[in-house]
Amino acid sequence: MTKRVAIIGAGPSGLAQLRAFQSAAQKGAEIPEVVCFEKQSDWGGLWNYTWRTGVDENGEPVHCSMYRYLWTNGPKEGLEFADYSFEEHFGKQIASYPPRAVMVDYIEGRVNKAGVRDWIRFNSVIRFVEYDADADDFTVTVHDMEKDHVYKERFDHVIVASGHFSSPNVPEYPGFADFHGRIVHAHDFRDAREFEGQDVLLLGSSYSAEDIGSQCWKYGAKTVTTSYRSAPMGFKWPDNWEEKPALVKVEDKTAHFADGSTKKIDAIILCTGYKHYFPFLPDDLRLKTKNRLATADLYKGVVYVHNPKMFYLGMQDQWFTFNMFDAQAWYVRDIIMGRIEVPADKQVLMADVSERETREEVSDDVKYAIKYQGAYVKELIADTDYPSFDVDGACEAFFEWKHHKADDIMAFRNHSYKSVITGTMAEPHHTPWKDALDDSMEAYLRA
Ligand SMILES: Cc1cc2nc3c(=O)[nH]c(=O)nc-3n(C[C@H](O)[C@H](O)[C@H](O)COP(=O)(O)OP(=O)(O)OC[C@H]3O[C@@H](n4cnc5c(N)ncnc54)[C@H](O)[C@@H]3O)c2cc1C
Ligand SMILES: NC(=O)c1ccc[n+]([C@@H]2O[C@H](COP(=O)([O-])OP(=O)(O)OC[C@H]3O[C@@H](n4cnc5c(N)ncnc54)[C@H](OP(=O)(O)O)[C@@H]3O)[C@@H](O)[C@H]2O)c1
Repeated sequence: MTKRVAIIGAGPSGLAQLRAFQSAAQKGAEIPEVVCFEKQSDWGGLWNYTWRTGVDENGEPVHCSMYRYLWTNGPKEGLEFADYSFEEHFGKQIASYPPRAVMVDYIEGRVNKAGVRDWIRFNSVIRFVEYDADADDFTVTVHDMEKDHVYKERFDHVIVASGHFSSPNVPEYPGFADFHGRIVHAHDFRDAREFEGQDVLLLGSSYSAEDIGSQCWKYGAKTVTTSYRSAPMGFKWPDNWEEKPALVKVEDKTAHFADGSTKKIDAIILCTGYKHYFPFLPDDLRLKTKNRLATADLYKGVVYVHNPKMFYLGMQDQWFTFNMFDAQAWYVRDIIMGRIEVPADKQVLMADVSERETREEVSDDVKYAIKYQGAYVKELIADTDYPSFDVDGACEAFFEWKHHKADDIMAFRNHSYKSVITGTMAEPHHTPWKDALDDSMEAYLRA
């Protein structure tokens, strides 16, 4: 009997898994029956933009956390697919920080070429997954939203690729309930023009605070204030941007900070991160981890130690993204196809997890973290036929990116890098990021 494999989610991780199986089939291998369940009506995961917030057309939580005018926040040379370069897709080399629409086109290009769209059941929400120890298989409960039909199917393996930047972490501070202005989490932020002319407060000191604050600045907010809980971002901000320590309370339209200072504000954007949230999984299958490089309970970062027939993709905090998801997907494919053996002793699996945790905790230096994840990508691809690529070169692009941000946070996207797949240098973009208000693919690819 052919094995059956369920993939939950058709974002970049789930699509990497489809491509991994398809590439084995293309090389003549017999592959299992693969079914990918996607709750949205299209693929792309977070990159599949919607104007909707709250619930979608089916009443399900909206998955998208992306917003209009979003450009990649790291150089594309750090994420390029090793088996499908930007040059192959666009027929030429393109600039290094593509907007979302350009990225979607690239993501789709590879899976269209692979012809795997038919392997996906769209509008299909996974409601529950159960493991049957006697049959040694999983029963997956699916809600087909088009037919409004709930059904169950059995699978030998389940691969969770449902992402972890979609369920917002929403703290409350004193005074929020009485605040006369908009309070919105980054997950529901869609268009910076909404905040034109306003004094905006952003809570958080990570990528969302930096990028959404930059969007608000670029599209005409009067002032931007970011408030940090642990450490400031510390960039050289424009004159109308200031960093404050932790928020204490809000009274009327005044924000009070831990250093005793205050600031008049019109709106609050909570850039306070996301939760790993799997409402469709029972206790014995549900990953519980912090957003870190060494996730809890995943051998080699992908095999669930409490049930090694179950896998998770993309659950790490991310320097590397698409190429890391590929490395993971090829590795999981090879376990399922019997090419890579997972040790039978659970203690060995747990020891692998704790070694990764200990090694991550050696340093909180950013360069160390980038190299750490680069080493992880190398470790996985060494055991599969995923095309090997210059991971150290990709790390170098990330190091340069960090320097460019420190030099000028509003200009780092004007820089170019060399592809580690084709060796070609990207063209500088035709318009500085701060002046490029049109984020369409046509505008970006214009010569
Ligand atoms: C605002 C923002 C900007 C980002 N920008 C960048 C960037 O510039 N560069 C970069 O490399 N990375 C970026 N990322 C990181 C992002 O995590 C990855 O690029 C990538 O989208 C992760 O892919 P994924 O497939 O693991 O998860 P996701 O993209 O989240 O996809 C998960 C999929 O699973 C589906 N799903 C979830 N639950 C169910 C269910 N119960 N049943 C069926 N389907 C389900 C979802 O609908 C979704 O399609 C960004 C993240 C955020 C939040
Ligand atoms: N392409 C783009 O341009 C773009 C834009 C945005 C985001 N992203 C991606 O999206 C992902 C998520 O980034 P993120 O910034 O949303 O999440 P994140 O990196 O997890 O950061 C969460 C931030 O919220 C703070 N925080 C958490 N709870 C808080 C509380 N109760 N009060 C105050 N502050 C609190 C944290 O502070 P502590 O440090 O104190 O914990 C941290 O600064 C990243 O992978 C990022 O690259 C990309």
